[in-house]
Amino acid sequence: MSETPKRVVVLGSTGSIGTQTLEVCRWRGYRVVGLLAGKNLELLCDQISEFQPEAVAADAAILPELKARFPRLNLVEPQEVAAWPADVVVGAVPGLAGLLGVRAAVSQGRRLALANKESMVAAGPLLWQEAERSGAEILPVDSEHSALFQSLLGEPPQDIAELILTASGGPFLREPADLSRVTPEMALKHPRWRMGPKVTVDSSTLFNKGLEVLEAVQLFRVPVEKVRVLIHPQAYVHSMVRFQDGNLKAQLGPTDMRLAIQYALTYPHRPPTPLREAPIPERLEFFPPDTQRFPALALAYEAGRMGGLAPVVLNAADEVAVEAFLQGHIGYLEIPRVLEKVLQQTPRGELTWENVFAADLEARRLARALLGVRETP
Ligand SMILES: NC(=O)c1ccc[n+]([C@@H]2O[C@H](COP(=O)([O-])OP(=O)(O)OC[C@H]3O[C@@H](n4cnc5c(N)ncnc54)[C@H](OP(=O)(O)O)[C@@H]3O)[C@@H](O)[C@H]2O)c1
Repeated sequence: MSETPKRVVVLGSTGSIGTQTLEVCRWRGYRVVGLLAGKNLELLCDQISEFQPEAVAADAAILPELKARFPRLNLVEPQEVAAWPADVVVGAVPGLAGLLGVRAAVSQGRRLALANKESMVAAGPLLWQEAERSGAEILPVDSEHSALFQSLLGEPPQDIAELILTASGGPFLREPADLSRVTPEMALKHPRWRMGPKVTVDSSTLFNKGLEVLEAVQLFRVPVEKVRVLIHPQAYVHSMVRFQDGNLKAQLGPTDMRLAIQYALTYPHRPPTPLREAPIPERLEFFPPDTQRFPALALAYEAGRMGGLAPVVLNAADEVAVEAFLQGHIGYLEIPRVLEKVLQQTPRGELTWENVFAADLEARRLARALLGVRETP
């Protein structure tokens, strides 16, 4: 039986996940009804010409040019495009900036294919509350979490002993010995994946893995102590689940984000894809991460243990620090230092929508003050 083409909204359409999502939509023949992008005018224009979406939102800086090139285009606010009638909304705007769209999609009861891990890290319990009210589904796009989701299908949650996330180790797994010499150019060269700049730098500090630990805590509702990270340089095994009887399920396979994206779009079905099978590496290694070398990962665990607003604060500090590093304002090792200092000043308070945004703003202000960088306009 042929599939009814789905209506898809892509938030972050000009990015790494966004463009790969559009490729999946092309091969599935899906109707792309909404696009949200930032400032990449030319690529967004190509996407509008190709997909003829019903609604588009973008950064204010490119709106006049978009209006001039497409006078009949339905330009709306970002939250409107996120809430546009659709079968699936793909959340792929990085950072806490992605949360508004994610929240709007969930509150409309959509299926959310979630790449933007920061939303789940900062506001997981709030998103689940909203999903329970609206009937929304939240499916992970992050490859490790997609793998965990698949391993956990049909398994009673109380039987989970441990979730194991693998990490390739990034470009600085062993070299250089002195990480203070790392430049933005070095950090932006990931040995395996081409991703956006924020997630690439986070992968190099292992903070991305820390965010993934916190994302797994929220997505699968397990305590942080039950989530373990193993360095696996071959990146062939995405994740493992150990059950309380000792059985272990591992999810292997092609490290191609399009597979995880398609699964979130087509779940529970698994139609064929044009992707090639990945060769099985001859040697598979697994070893624990060095948290002395990569303290940002240990800080994520600390935030997970603290709970409340700590993950919000840690994420905000990282966004500021990574941006400052990429702009050449601070050295590489300043990133974990500022994370630690901001985390120590986590405000008390319940996790509410108001508190999430207030804590995020305050943590950014504090991080900028500590780093001596000015407010970005
Ligand atoms: N890339 C991966 O392989 C991967 C894997 C797993 C999870 N993720 C997660 O997926 C998310 C996206 O990552 P990515 O690598 O795709 O990032 P990316 O390549 O940097 O793309 C980001 C996208 O979001 C848009 N954007 C950024 N800020 C925006 C704002 N304030 N308002 C509206 N649009 C905005 C960008 O627009 P412009 O480019 O037009 O400015 C672009 O379309 C992140 O949370 C990341 O952690 C990524």
